[in-house]
Amino acid sequence: MTDVIDSSSDGNGVSVQISGKSSVFAVIGDPIEHTLSPLMHNRAIKAMGLDAVYVSLHVRPDDLERAIKGMKALGIGGMNVTVPHKTAVMALMDDLSDEARAVGAVNTIIPKDGGLYGDNTDGYGFLKCLAEGGLPVLPERVCIIGAGGAARGVAFACAGREEVKELAIINRTVGKAEALADEIACFSGKVVEPAPADKQSFKRHAGGAGLVVNTTSVGMFPNEGVSPLPDPSIFHEGQYTADIVYVPLRTKFLDDAEANGAKSIEGLAMLAWQGARSLSLWTGMEAPGEVMMAALLEHFGRGM
Ligand code: ATR
Repeated sequence: MTDVIDSSSDGNGVSVQISGKSSVFAVIGDPIEHTLSPLMHNRAIKAMGLDAVYVSLHVRPDDLERAIKGMKALGIGGMNVTVPHKTAVMALMDDLSDEARAVGAVNTIIPKDGGLYGDNTDGYGFLKCLAEGGLPVLPERVCIIGAGGAARGVAFACAGREEVKELAIINRTVGKAEALADEIACFSGKVVEPAPADKQSFKRHAGGAGLVVNTTSVGMFPNEGVSPLPDPSIFHEGQYTADIVYVPLRTKFLDDAEANGAKSIEGLAMLAWQGARSLSLWTGMEAPGEVMMAALLEHFGRGM
């Protein structure tokens, strides 16, 4: 017995077949109703011809432990973890990947040998997003704006690349930049300079970097039209910029960069490719990241 369900929130016709043998994948978070993961995963599941469905589940922090136990009991085939559970869920895993351990966050849970294995595909998603955006090889100097959870993932991913020699971390709260810089320097043995978010730091570090990444929420809906980098004339030709914000798809940060001759890479592909990597880890099959990206772009009203 099978049935067809439409998994899309906006009626765009992403449908999957459900049977008594269907596998279930899920994403947990709090809040979760705005997640785009079901949309892109179910599109990929369909393209891969899998008998599976991907759903979102609202799990509050107090229920996290029971939810993870439930995942085992219910035989969920794989789970994504989003805000605010990425760190708390680590203690509930039977084992962790080196990457999850280093970053201090799990975004993907893989059932393995009767236990649960916590991994992190955000770094992969970020690097793949850069590669798809025209930057397969990173520059020697990278400047990261922000020092929160997203910055950690980006900083570890960049520091892990051999071609990157120097990192700068600029943050409004400089103490957080210092703590993150210490950790990244210890992990990678590279030069990592923390700096406050002032004119001088931006000029020196953002102006001198081959890649400048915004990992803050500055410019995100509903506070569009602002950039974390106050002086756009710092951007110049030969430079790349990337934004982890993808609502809106084009932020002021990226527009300022382009207007001053730098290249810009939008953040949406990061979402698609971290998801594709998760689906590959659960299924052992290569997940079509470009199909997931197309689903996301369609959602935002932009064709590929
Ligand atoms: P996430 O997990 O998404 O990275 P976070 O851990 O709360 O979220 O981190 C948010 C980042 O955006 C921080 O670097 C924060 O700076 P502070 O450490 O000084 O708080 C930065 N951020 C948020 N709003 C900002 C603003 N209006 N101006 C500058 N930086 C801002």
